Formats: sequence, C-alpha cells, structure tokens
Amino acid sequence: MSERVLVTGVLGCLGAWVARAVLADGDDVVGYDLGENTARLDLVLGEDAARVTLVCGDITDLEALERVLDEHEITRVVHLAALQVPFVRANPPLGMRVNVAGTVNVFEAVSKRLDRIPGVAYASSTAVYSAADPSPAPEAGSTAPSTLYGVSKLADEGMARVYAADNGLPSIGLRPYVVYGPGRDQGMTSGPTMAMLAAARGEPYAIGYGGTAQYDFAPDVARAFVMAAGAEREGAAVYNAPGAVAAMEDVVAAIRTVVPGAEITWSGDALPFPPKLEAVGFDRDVGTFPRTPLDVGVATTIEHFRASG
Ligand SMILES: NC(=O)c1ccc[n+]([C@@H]2O[C@H](COP(=O)([O-])OP(=O)(O)OC[C@H]3O[C@@H](n4cnc5c(N)ncnc54)[C@H](O)[C@@H]3O)[C@@H](O)[C@H]2O)c1
Repeated sequence: MSERVLVTGVLGCLGAWVARAVLADGDDVVGYDLGENTARLDLVLGEDAARVTLVCGDITDLEALERVLDEHEITRVVHLAALQVPFVRANPPLGMRVNVAGTVNVFEAVSKRLDRIPGVAYASSTAVYSAADPSPAPEAGSTAPSTLYGVSKLADEGMARVYAADNGLPSIGLRPYVVYGPGRDQGMTSGPTMAMLAAARGEPYAIGYGGTAQYDFAPDVARAFVMAAGAEREGAAVYNAPGAVAAMEDVVAAIRTVVPGAEITWSGDALPFPPKLEAVGFDRDVGTFPRTPLDVGVATTIEHFRASG
C-alpha cells in the first residue's frame, strides 16, 4: 500500500523537491504550509504539482496539525516548515515561534501516533555550527550557534533528543549546508542559485558572500529526507549532509562552463560556519546519501531554468 506523506513547508524549495521524490515513489503527498503560492511546486513538479494535496495551515497551530495527520491518515512525516536566517533576524519572536514552537508541535503530534507513523524526519541546519568550530566540523554537533536561527535549530535537535527519551519518538534530523537547485530563491545562501537563474537568462548577478562551503543539490537532500522518514530506527539521530566542498570561484566556474562569459561577481565574507563538515552517519545508519557532483548539479539547474522559461 502506498504511504501518505505529510510534508510541512511544502511550498518551499526543499518541500517541492521532497514532494517530487515522494510522488516518484508512487506515494501520496499532503503538503502543509502557510501560504498558497505554488510557484516553487510548479517550477519543480510541472503538471504533477496538481497531485499534491495542499492544506493551508500554520505549524504553530497544534490542533490544526493533528487534524491533518488524522484526516489524511498520514503514515510518514517530513518537517521542513521554518523561517530562514534573514526572516528570523527580521522578526526574532516570530522566528523562534515558528522554528521552535512549530517543531515541538510536530514532535508532540507524531509521538501520539507512533502506531501509524514511525517517527519524524526534520530539517536542522549547518547553522548549529559557528566559525569557531573545527573544520571538518564533527557530526556530533555544536553548542554555540552564532545566529538565532542556528539557536532555533539546535533547540529542535535538543527537543528531538528529549522526545526520544521521554516519549519514545524516533527522529532523524538533517543539517543541510548551502542548498542549491531550482526553487532556491530565498535565504542567506540563495545567491549561487540566483546566479544560475540570472546566467540562464543572460543577466548579471552579484553573490553576497564568498569563501568555501559545502553545496547540497536540492534533489539529493530531498531524497535523503524521504529515506529518513521511512527508516526503521530508534532514538534521535542528527546527520550532516555530504555536500560538495567548493570555493566560490569553483561555483562560478561551474556556472561559466554552462554559460561561458556569465557575468557573476561575489563579495563579502565567508559564511559563519566551518567550511567542511564530517558527514558519515547517514550512509552508515540509513543508506547512501545521494551525491550529485557540483558541475552536474549546476548544469542540471541551469537546464531546468532554461526549460521552464
Ligand atoms: N535552504 C537551505 O540552504 C537550508 C539549509 C539548511 C537547512 N534548511 C532548512 O530546510 C528547511 C526547508 O528549507 P527551504 O530552503 O525549503 O526553505 P523555504 O524558505 O524555501 O521554505 C520554507 C517553507 O516553510 C513555510 N512556513 C514558514 N512559516 C510557516 C508556518 N508558520 N507554518 C507553516 N509553514 C510555514 C514557508 O511558507 C515556506 O514555504 C527549513 O527548515 C530550513 O531551515 C535549509
């Protein structure tokens, strides 16, 4: 029988790619999100966007979330709904409400339904680390994020650990770094994807940070979330993503391989995280995390933008 997968934040970049991966498996997607703007779903899924059942709701509303889980007899949960760094910075009380209180709602609701749902796959972030952490950063995690967003994600990891101990809730958290690919159009690290879009259109683009980071192709991360949501597991695990380590000049060179002469510049500091992360746990405990090489991911993204006009 097919699974019925709840994807919170389905109207975001990773939400759209998770929805696509779930549909590709022949399973059903119920998307839960605040808004009704399906632009990213349309970009990523094309006509298949119509196959996503959309429920408009707020992750901070526990009652509404529980209703969706029951009305749609949900059997898997991927929790992505969150506000990213700039939005948390602009409105800290709202950011912490969505990222922390929203996540505890998901843990609370699923922990009461473990007969039907094996646990939660949820998005943490590389922002749990700070520039003071060693590189490669140990997968065991960090304790001193430099942004409130990072603090909210570290709180999510802590809540997952306590829900596993107190309520027997299994969970797998993933900490993506710079996610790139079609649909990545907001957040502190959306610059490289915006540069790919501009290059596809023959327009210039200025990326607002530099340095070396890890680049995670959105379809790879989405597939890992789907694997995590269906994994047989116990306890609360958190894994880094094994993205491609690249300096900004490598990213821009990959774009220029596809669009020779693309007018892309960058300036600003490196991201406030270690440039490299240890990422061995997912492969060991869950299965092989997909790894699209950077040049292939960049070329595929630009092709996707060209094809969708
Ligand atoms: N994009 C990255 O590079 C990256 C890196 C690390 C972690 N993450 C995490 O991965 C997840 C998905 O990221 P993304 O790039 O798809 O983000 P996104 O900003 O594109 O999408 C987030 C979605 O959450 C929804 N949302 C916000 N508040 C909500 C609320 N109160 N109730 C219901 N839905 C709400 C938004 O409407 C949006 O559709 C997030 O948790 C993010 O923090 C992303």
